[in-house]
Amino acid sequence: MVYLTTAIDYPNGSPHIGHAYEKVLTDVLARYHRLKGDEVYFLTGVDQHGQKMVQTAEKEGVNVATLAKKNTKKFIKLLDTLDISNDGWVETTDERHKACVAKILNDLHEKGQLYKKSYQGFYSVRQEQFLTDKERDAEGNFGEEWGEVVELEEENWYFKLTEHVEWLKGAIEAGTIPIFPEFRKSEVLNALKGAENDLCISRPKERLAWGIPLPFDPEFVTYVWFDALINYISFAGYLAGDDSDLPDFSKLWPAKWHVIGKDIMVPAHAVYWPCMLHAMGFTDEQMPGLLVHGWWNVRGEKMSKSTGNFIDPNELCDKLGSDAVRYYLARDIVTGKDSDFDPTRVVLLFNTELANGLGNLLNRSLNMTKGSLGSVLCEFAYDDEDCQKVRDSHANLLVTYRNKMDALDPRGALEAVVSFVTDVNAFTDRTEPWQLKKDETKRDQLAAVLYHLCESCAQVSVLLSPFVPEASAKMQTQLKADLSGLKLNDLSWGLLKPGHETGKNKPVFPRLEPLD
Ligand code: MSP
Repeated sequence: MVYLTTAIDYPNGSPHIGHAYEKVLTDVLARYHRLKGDEVYFLTGVDQHGQKMVQTAEKEGVNVATLAKKNTKKFIKLLDTLDISNDGWVETTDERHKACVAKILNDLHEKGQLYKKSYQGFYSVRQEQFLTDKERDAEGNFGEEWGEVVELEEENWYFKLTEHVEWLKGAIEAGTIPIFPEFRKSEVLNALKGAENDLCISRPKERLAWGIPLPFDPEFVTYVWFDALINYISFAGYLAGDDSDLPDFSKLWPAKWHVIGKDIMVPAHAVYWPCMLHAMGFTDEQMPGLLVHGWWNVRGEKMSKSTGNFIDPNELCDKLGSDAVRYYLARDIVTGKDSDFDPTRVVLLFNTELANGLGNLLNRSLNMTKGSLGSVLCEFAYDDEDCQKVRDSHANLLVTYRNKMDALDPRGALEAVVSFVTDVNAFTDRTEPWQLKKDETKRDQLAAVLYHLCESCAQVSVLLSPFVPEASAKMQTQLKADLSGLKLNDLSWGLLKPGHETGKNKPVFPRLEPLD
């Protein structure tokens, strides 16, 4: 089983294009694995507890549970708008999750992994954590990223994180915990050099009531990250019992990839989480992989509501359609690196590569097959170098596509598809089927050319299905070829058989107007 998760989003506002990207990237991988014939479980959701949620609720003058419910709906809508094929859905206020968190806390408490102590120090309200001298800048101040910093003395519960740090260093160095891209590993190892403190895992209820109570000390609630990270196992059925409606944990775990942004790798996912799992008794072989993606910026700057460069993916999909947005998010970023979100490129890439490139190929293929062969791909006894070149280009495409996707490089896979479509369009221009049609003696050649065109479209419809599922299905409807159950290994040349009747052409990729 291939178990894939995204981070779970704070529903303290509306989703932005960064949230959309993470879901699209994971969805592309999930659909690709299904295409390979793998059984997949894809989990995504929202992280509803914590101080951020309370602060937003206070600002808006609403109850925090009401805010969580209201905003969670916007994140659910985004999944629908973007055609995300998740199997499971997380809400951390779910009783099943709370029960799992409580069991884990009790277990760690019994194992002596948790202790209570009083601590005086500086606390970042925005990041919900105590700060140490390490977080001070050269002038000795806490930087802007920490927001409001207050001095607090507080009794809290701690997790013996430091007991696991040496083990973690070894596991990262040995590659037991897969981290992609490779270069992020050194960042984790650097962070571990300074890991001298245990992790505070509680907040006093009087200061923050919006969280999961500690089962052995109900005057405290669980720190939001400790609660949130557990979603990956609680919603996968960990400790859920036989009568639970959650999945069978033993089939899902370990997660192949936790797909997360670079900002939440250290310390949450690459330090706290493996140490928590280790303390619970998970072995080295049971550690999940981390796929760390970069950020979408806007004109080189971080996206934020206050600077007015916030990109709302629901709005964008309403204007351009979800396939255009999905295509752009997969096409214009290298996995692991940052990219600049540019609305003009969303339109440009769609118009050049899909409308002009593939759309044009599909149109011509179906129209000419209808006009010359009455929409029936007939037997032909003809082959030549041009036809062979198309089949060679297709064979290359299959190898490159698979290699790129397996290397977590959806952009590279799309480039290979675009290059194949360009080759096939060039083949059409070279062979001029509209001229062949005029010459009775060239009927076999015409049938061969049209077969190569329609077959190429069928092949591309399958390879694009993880990226633009709606368009891929439309292409197959027009080709009258239901290839939805086909697996990648069966994708050899010859999907369409002589005698196959193709359907009517209707633009699948209508050109987009530039956005104002
Ligand atoms: N709730 C935590 C995650 C808990 S996971 C156990 C959180 N939420 S978040 O809403 O702030 O971010 C959710 C995801 O969106 C994170 O992986 C984050 O990196 C990603 N992104 C947030 N802004 C982004 C961009 N501008 N670009 C790409 N991804 C971005 O962190």
